[in-house]
Amino acid sequence: MKFFVDTADTAAIKELADLGMVDGVTTNPSLILKSGRDILEVTREICDMVEGPVSAEVVATEAREMIAEGMKLSKIAPNIAIKVPLTWDGLTACKAFASEGLKVNVTLCFSPAQAILAAKAGAAFISPFIGRLDDIHLDGLDLIADIRTIYDNYDFGTEVLAASIRSVNHVIECARIGADIVTAPPQVIKAMANHPLTDKGLDQFLKDWAKTGQKIV
Ligand code: E4P
Repeated sequence: MKFFVDTADTAAIKELADLGMVDGVTTNPSLILKSGRDILEVTREICDMVEGPVSAEVVATEAREMIAEGMKLSKIAPNIAIKVPLTWDGLTACKAFASEGLKVNVTLCFSPAQAILAAKAGAAFISPFIGRLDDIHLDGLDLIADIRTIYDNYDFGTEVLAASIRSVNHVIECARIGADIVTAPPQVIKAMANHPLTDKGLDQFLKDWAKTGQKIV
């Protein structure tokens, strides 16, 4: 399973990348806003830090303008994946980029039907949003499972990039289902290291060690 980090916070990306935890990065307009940085500048910096794909999202809604924006974003670095929304115009732009050999991440996917269209349009990645489906009382993980089954039925090469990950449980369930990639916020990736029994066990070991009066260094 590959880990992408869902952030434009370069310090957070660096911390995880130094530990070998980062196979790619996803950004979106809301994350760029949160970073307070210029999109071209921050995306270039991220591309220099990470070898894998870095998704940068277009903001136009009409195919021709999306293509112009995507071509500009693709010039930032060779590891850019152009992110387009799952609309008819987005699919049109996806096909155009894929025909040029550019990687496309089709985002804002909320149904298996949308995922089929993205694969047919040549997307390198499909981003089904788990948390936002959970928010409206649907099971986002069901969508990941459905897409996995459908893509496997037809050997589609599009990678399932599980997005809108809100919890460690989302990551575990995506791994069980067989999502190719999860893109998670840094705090979710770091929370994967936590377990109350680890804390309790460590506490006991440290108390007992103190009683020995010994030192290692
Ligand atoms: C994916 O590429 C999106 O940037 C992201 O996962 C959205 O997550 P959210 O629903 O928590 O905003």
